[in-house]
Amino acid sequence: MSLPVPYLSAKTLTVVKSIDTSGAARVVNLGLNESWLGPAPGVVDALQRTAADVHRYADPACSTMRMAIGRQFGLDPARIVCGNGSEELLDAIGRVYARAGDEILFPAYSFLQFAIVAYRIGARAVESPLGPDFSVDIDALLAAVTPATRVVFLANPNNPTGVAVPMEEVARLARELPSNIVLVLDCAYAEYVDPADGAEAFAIADRHPNVVVTRTFSKAYGMASARAGWGYGHSAVVTALNNVRGIGNVNGMAQAAATVAIAQQDFIATVRERTAEGRRHLEQGLIALGFEVAPSEANFAFARLPGADAGWAAATVLRLAKRGYVIRSNEDYGLPEWLRISIGDTADIDALLELMRQELPMRASA
Ligand SMILES: Cc1ncc(COP(=O)(O)O)c(C=O)c1O
Repeated sequence: MSLPVPYLSAKTLTVVKSIDTSGAARVVNLGLNESWLGPAPGVVDALQRTAADVHRYADPACSTMRMAIGRQFGLDPARIVCGNGSEELLDAIGRVYARAGDEILFPAYSFLQFAIVAYRIGARAVESPLGPDFSVDIDALLAAVTPATRVVFLANPNNPTGVAVPMEEVARLARELPSNIVLVLDCAYAEYVDPADGAEAFAIADRHPNVVVTRTFSKAYGMASARAGWGYGHSAVVTALNNVRGIGNVNGMAQAAATVAIAQQDFIATVRERTAEGRRHLEQGLIALGFEVAPSEANFAFARLPGADAGWAAATVLRLAKRGYVIRSNEDYGLPEWLRISIGDTADIDALLELMRQELPMRASA
């Protein structure tokens, strides 16, 4: 008996790695860039309030949610499209604007999802070289454009490096990129940088109809499990994305929670401040242990131990997980020496740093 043969193998279709924490009495997950500060005020109430209506279909147009987002940032709600997380929108952009044989371009060591979007549709994932310290080289990105390029993804700040691109450079990219290519400004970590940069991203989308900005409620708003994201762009792009997204892609509880959360900008300012403090604390601790850190501006640090054996980082991740501390190794990103550690509660970070200190003797086998 022959079985149906999938075109895609499942193993390449995830950015989330499973990790064995068995034996740990308590698990502190610093491996997924979630917010340790929890959901924005009002989110849990909104979820509970709307749970009683779970037998009803939600508004497929996400009208209230889009109006709330538009009001918050001074954007036209008609030019906003909501997604089941921003991930759905990245995927939808790939499906709408590229097909097999086309090229999807992004800087090296970008968010893994960009390559996955290309893989799912049989497009070619093309990476442009970076400058020093994981900086995005906009000239190299522009030089990598070919007649087959359909979509350019730029995560700002990027995951897994945390590195941000100065907005003048993003604006120049939008100006110099051929206007028939979609430029996606993936701003999943925008809440962690200057809000003026977020406003500038929307202004760039206003100036260039081929630019789409994506944002998420998963990170600073503390709603990762609710799955709510949104995109802003030209109405033609928004219409195209609405045509391919799932009809009921954002569930009613997530819509209600997002509608409440978007107004909580004082909370977001606190999250931004506390995350920056926490990042400094973690990075200083890592540097004191001998680590090198990338210039991250997001809710995680990116670090490596110079001179450590190949495989030390991955082995450390497995050992720490058994002791209840989950951090992320990056061999799937082609950066096996590097560790990505989300910011967390100070006591947990201090405990993690102590565990990492205990890992140092294992750095070299000789
Ligand atoms: C750069 C970047 N973009 C997009 C996403 C997707 O987030 P979500 O689908 O939860 O909105 C993530 C999640 O980690 C990310 O790191």
